[in-house]
Amino acid sequence: MLQFIVMEDAASIARATADRVEAKLRDQKEAVLGLATGSSPILFYEELVRRHREEGLDFSKVHTLNLDEYVGLCKEHPQSYRFFMNHHLFSKINIPMEQTHIPEGSTLDPQAEAARYEALIRSLPPAAVQILGIGTNGHIGFNEPAPVFSLAAHEVALKSATVEANARFFEDPAQVPHSAITMGVGGILRAEQIILLAMGPAKAWALAQLAGAFVDPKIPATILRVHPHVTIFCDEAAAAKLPKECIGRPL
Ligand code: F6R
Repeated sequence: MLQFIVMEDAASIARATADRVEAKLRDQKEAVLGLATGSSPILFYEELVRRHREEGLDFSKVHTLNLDEYVGLCKEHPQSYRFFMNHHLFSKINIPMEQTHIPEGSTLDPQAEAARYEALIRSLPPAAVQILGIGTNGHIGFNEPAPVFSLAAHEVALKSATVEANARFFEDPAQVPHSAITMGVGGILRAEQIILLAMGPAKAWALAQLAGAFVDPKIPATILRVHPHVTIFCDEAAAAKLPKECIGRPL
């Protein structure tokens, strides 16, 4: 079941997402949270930090599972997803670092690291909430358009559209890694509830595909149609190509 909810701005989306996560954590302190990097969840992480500092939201028993990491970047690299998560969230809340999980980008054997990550995912309870962004090409995590879906965590060659989209975060665009380790769609679909965040006109095409009737590995986010509980929080710009009848009601 998918539900598109259009909100006024990114701050409202961040608060609505934090409300869902907080509701889970209030009655399930040991919940697993599935987390994403990129620009879409930044305000949401700020809101979680604020609720931790001002309202005592407790993360001491939470485990987190991030979606992905670039291959070839060590955790100290400012563009690594480990660095991003430590900076935006983990260093600012009371979660023990050993309860935060992200694939190891500096590995010499990405396939073995992907297998280790898959085993780790399976050893934890399903995520209570999985946060997702969406690529302009419809990717979720780094599950890129492909002839078939990959269920398990795997090493993936990034599409040129993804490398170009992410070059904005790097001082030198030539430094953008061309491969990553990502949770597979099986790991993503394991979550009890999925919240996808999409802001800005660049996401309009991908969201419109998600509202269509087909599940197609060439537009990986369409796999979300088979999940029982997916909410898409988006702004007007990202919703611009959605058929009106798709907004607000469960699909
Ligand atoms: C990040 C990730 C990606 C991003 C997507 C959107 O962990 O898995 O799928 O969510 O590329 O990125 P932003 O939010 O920067 O537009």
